[in-house]
Amino acid sequence: MADESPFRNTVLKGKVALITGGGSGICFEIATQFGLHGAMVAIMGRRKHVLDAAVASLESLGIRAVGVQGDVRKKEDASRVVETVVEELGRLDILINGAAGNFLSAAEDLSPNGFKTVMDIDTVGTFTMSHAAVNYLKQGGKGKGPNEGGVIISISATLHYSANWYQIHVSAAKAAVDSLTRSLALEWGTDYKIRCNGIAPGPISGTPGMEKLNPEEAGISSGDAVPLGKMGEKWDIAMAAIFLASESGKYINGAVLPVDGGSWLAKPRY
Ligand code: HXC
Repeated sequence: MADESPFRNTVLKGKVALITGGGSGICFEIATQFGLHGAMVAIMGRRKHVLDAAVASLESLGIRAVGVQGDVRKKEDASRVVETVVEELGRLDILINGAAGNFLSAAEDLSPNGFKTVMDIDTVGTFTMSHAAVNYLKQGGKGKGPNEGGVIISISATLHYSANWYQIHVSAAKAAVDSLTRSLALEWGTDYKIRCNGIAPGPISGTPGMEKLNPEEAGISSGDAVPLGKMGEKWDIAMAAIFLASESGKYINGAVLPVDGGSWLAKPRY
């Protein structure tokens, strides 16, 4: 069970956040914690039953939440979803790009279309959603203090800091997501004061991504390979997102924050 939040429960009051992939896993926890800290939340995903269950769960906590079905790979879906969020919740302040595809495959066995599919969801999807949201994010936060523009947070990974087995497609896609974060931070930070940052989760327990990696077999679940000695929780990622999205992060732009207990640095001791 995660700790009590270190943030005031009003830290995102009045903000509207759209969270892609928000129906499950890490991004559902981000939606929940954003809601518990005062935001209204919209979650986007491909599967209606997943969205419906997630919205019901958020509402049971007293959170104002809407679910909008759509695929981040489709430009028309991106525009429709963003417009629906603004219609239903009145504005858009924060976009979390969390939708991602993942499966393990040796490079030799991976079809070019399999590679492209993950690039399309993770990388092209992040750009497509950011592009669809930018006109609304320009207005986001106006008149509410020093955080003039809106905020984009794109979820990547630490896979591409070195190399990982059987994830050539995901590593390439997440490297490109980090690159998008930096380019958007430069262009939209300068022109619109939209802060664009990333979060790179390490091994986080109880996520669809981790289930696919089979953490027991890979020896991750014991935490022995993590400097901090354990796997992370979804809560850890959600707290990092609140830090970046709220006034606490008002001077942070173009950063990608690894939240991995130091895993990517880990080496056997001599
Ligand atoms: C090899 C596969 C495959 C697999 C799909 N493909 N699954 N190849 N092994 N397990 C190939 C297909 O053969 C096809 O290529 C191409 O990919 C497209 O497949 P579709 O099934 O048609 O695509 P689609 O229905 O769009 O599904 C895409 C998907 C997605 C990526 C498979 O459904 C998915 O993974 N959903 C799960 C989402 C998820 O787990 N999210 C958590 C992400 S966690 P061909 O050539 O045959 O046409 C995360 C963290 C990363 O991202 C970091 C971890 C540490």
